[in-house]
Amino acid sequence: MKTILTGVRANSVPTIGNYLGAMLPMVRLANQYSKDSHVNIFVPDLHSIISEVDGDLKANTIRTLKYYLAGGLEINENVHIYRQSRVPAHSELCWILNCVATMGEMSRMTQYKDKSEGRESCNVGIFDYPVLMTADILLYDATYVPLGEDQFQHIELARNLATRFNHRFGEIFTVPAKTADQVKFMGMDGGIRIRDLLNPEKKMSKSTKAENSKIMLDDEPAKAGKKIMSATTDSLGKVKFDMFNQPGVSNLLQIEALANDVPLQDVIATWAGETRYGDLKQKVASSVMRLLEEFQAQMAKVSDEMVYGLLESGEKYANEVANAKLYEVQKAFNLR
Ligand code: TRP
Repeated sequence: MKTILTGVRANSVPTIGNYLGAMLPMVRLANQYSKDSHVNIFVPDLHSIISEVDGDLKANTIRTLKYYLAGGLEINENVHIYRQSRVPAHSELCWILNCVATMGEMSRMTQYKDKSEGRESCNVGIFDYPVLMTADILLYDATYVPLGEDQFQHIELARNLATRFNHRFGEIFTVPAKTADQVKFMGMDGGIRIRDLLNPEKKMSKSTKAENSKIMLDDEPAKAGKKIMSATTDSLGKVKFDMFNQPGVSNLLQIEALANDVPLQDVIATWAGETRYGDLKQKVASSVMRLLEEFQAQMAKVSDEMVYGLLESGEKYANEVANAKLYEVQKAFNLR
């Protein structure tokens, strides 16, 4: 049985961009594949502490997992939910892989370069982040790791470290699929980025100051509708999907498609030839309001107890699988 694995950071409340562009596509993949694959969804809480966390990490973790359940994640015996810090094998394998990874390849990681840029000194966790991530993946022999583009370099590192390790010690790790195959596996939805409502050249981000730039998952639906109505468009007066020349209008079409779970092409066809942006905004606003109402109603139904119950069985499973793999690695290095 193949394993599909993803880590979902629990740093703060997501935007609808995170929800529509990453969480819902993951829920759909999980539901599609969990009949005959393992689906591991875990919270990399040890990764979170490389920087300051907003709020209480424990509570953020539970809330983040609730989002997946509220978003429609179906649970069966192949779906495993766990917290990284509750499976000590992650940290242990990270150390061992630190002795396989080289300073050269680690120094080329763009996320580290971006985060450390201009700082006199940054913590070692920021530098080592991708090795811990490699351990997260290799412990479970994961083949597919659905993630955004910004993480592809980390998948490549995991592939390189697994290959190097296997070369030295024999076939201990499953080498994750190549990035191109990961993209194929994720389908079109994998690379979607919802844009900032006021500055549609940029990605929608929770850290943007302007409230009207972003819609948060816990926004009051009516307030979210108003934000859509005030979104930046253009003066071309033609509803068309053209991210380069009409990013605002294209973003609205994209949101409309994702909020209703219909193909983007269908939405583009429906609106072809229309000239009134106000009509498009009205429609998208009502779709977003409905989406938030439904999501928030689902969210209210998921209890903490439900999540703790899933974590209990998920963490038992994760520790069993991860410890068995770690033992093979320890034996390879004559630690056992
Ligand atoms: N780095 C990922 C992100 O920023 C989170 C993550 C940590 C992860 N470990 C992982 C994702 C292992 C997939 C597999 O989104």
